[in-house]
Amino acid sequence: MKVANVAIIGTGYVGLSCGACLAHLGHQIVCVDNNRGKVEILNSGIVPIVEARLPELVAEGMSTGRLSFTTDLIRSVAAAEFVMLCLPTPQGMDGSADLTYLHDAVEALKDSLASGSVVITKSTVPIGTYADLVRRIGRVDIDVASNPEFVREGSAVADFLQPDRIIVGASTDAVAQRVAALYENIEAPIVITDPASAETLKYAANGFLALKLTYINSIAAICDAYGADIRDVVKGLSFDPRIGGQFFNPGPGWGGSCFPKDTRALTHIASDGGYEFALLKMAIEVNDLHQQSVADKVIAICDGDVRGKVIAAWGLTFKANTDDIRDSPAIVVVKKLLKLGARMQCFDPTISKVPTEIEGSLLATTALEATTGASALILLTEWAEFASVKPGDVFERMSSPRVVDARNLLDRESWQANGFTYRGVGR
Ligand SMILES: NC(=O)c1ccc[n+]([C@@H]2O[C@H](COP(=O)([O-])OP(=O)(O)OC[C@H]3O[C@@H](n4cnc5c(N)ncnc54)[C@H](O)[C@@H]3O)[C@@H](O)[C@H]2O)c1
Repeated sequence: MKVANVAIIGTGYVGLSCGACLAHLGHQIVCVDNNRGKVEILNSGIVPIVEARLPELVAEGMSTGRLSFTTDLIRSVAAAEFVMLCLPTPQGMDGSADLTYLHDAVEALKDSLASGSVVITKSTVPIGTYADLVRRIGRVDIDVASNPEFVREGSAVADFLQPDRIIVGASTDAVAQRVAALYENIEAPIVITDPASAETLKYAANGFLALKLTYINSIAAICDAYGADIRDVVKGLSFDPRIGGQFFNPGPGWGGSCFPKDTRALTHIASDGGYEFALLKMAIEVNDLHQQSVADKVIAICDGDVRGKVIAAWGLTFKANTDDIRDSPAIVVVKKLLKLGARMQCFDPTISKVPTEIEGSLLATTALEATTGASALILLTEWAEFASVKPGDVFERMSSPRVVDARNLLDRESWQANGFTYRGVGR
């Protein structure tokens, strides 16, 4: 494998995982971030996010000298053959993707790029961004490529090193091959395409996954209405290869750092192109309603009123095995209950400070402690450790033994045998 010098711009969930993995593959990586505090923490050997195997890979990269961290954008890009943009593309005021971070960084680095280098977009960006970046960079000696990232938080390292596929969008085959060569030591199908198709593909994937979850949450609502069991329904569906069983667990609604902003951005991209993406718009609405229905289950189990009652919430992150609470459905549900006057006692294994969105909640140091004096418990994130808490211990602490299991994680029979009123999602 040809070792490449790569500068990663933006050392967040994607940039850090990507940098550590590329260094592990043998490349020479510098991760740049304009957050000085973050760079100092990383240089002291601490990984500031929760991500399986990442601390080991960062330590390996630092000890071999293949991975370093800096705030020095100019010097880093000047020495790089590849510059990977792993910058935030948050939701703008109107719901479209806000490209300010990307534009600012490109403006700051474009004159320092080494002649012949390739600028690679890993951030999720609207279709047409490639062409816009070519124009913004404005240099004939620089190539641009789209290489969208598909890693999932919680399994980013494994996803990067054993991906389902690698997508490279470039305007010439030579540039695409140069980018693809970075991944030479990874066994995965490589799809080489034009930049607009690569950009479309990333949104198409996230939009579809959001639709899939919306669909199964809707089927769960039907199961709730008729006393069917969603787990058996999903099991039966999963044998049909046209449907598949993955990513089909009902829950408190989808959220996280990508789906909410990417689905909204895609509806904007579509309407800018003259197509009303009614299906996706409806899925966004249905998801909002579903999150409300989860809060409603807590209200119903509390005899129609949560005002003044202590409610325990297990989990705040948008899914297990990450510390990310951006657009977390758990936060949405806790916020709704707080607004209705509930006294929230929350616990999440990775959260040590009450998030500003749910100020006024108490943060317990253990799952059990959160249930003290509670009129109901709601499980919002599928942390495995919640499944091993003994219902008998919870029973002793709570003022009323009622549980809403918004992830269908708990052993219903065992909780019921311990005197709990149990409500799941679709069972
Ligand atoms: N988080 C995911 O699971 C995931 C997966 C696939 C794709 N993506 C996409 O990847 C992109 C990055 O997402 P993320 O979750 O890693 O974001 P993040 O917020 O975790 O990280 C972004 C980093 O960029 C830094 N930054 C901002 N402006 C900068 C600048 N001018 N120079 C240097 N650094 C700068 C920030 O300080 C931050 O550390 C987004 O477009 C996102 O949609 C994310």
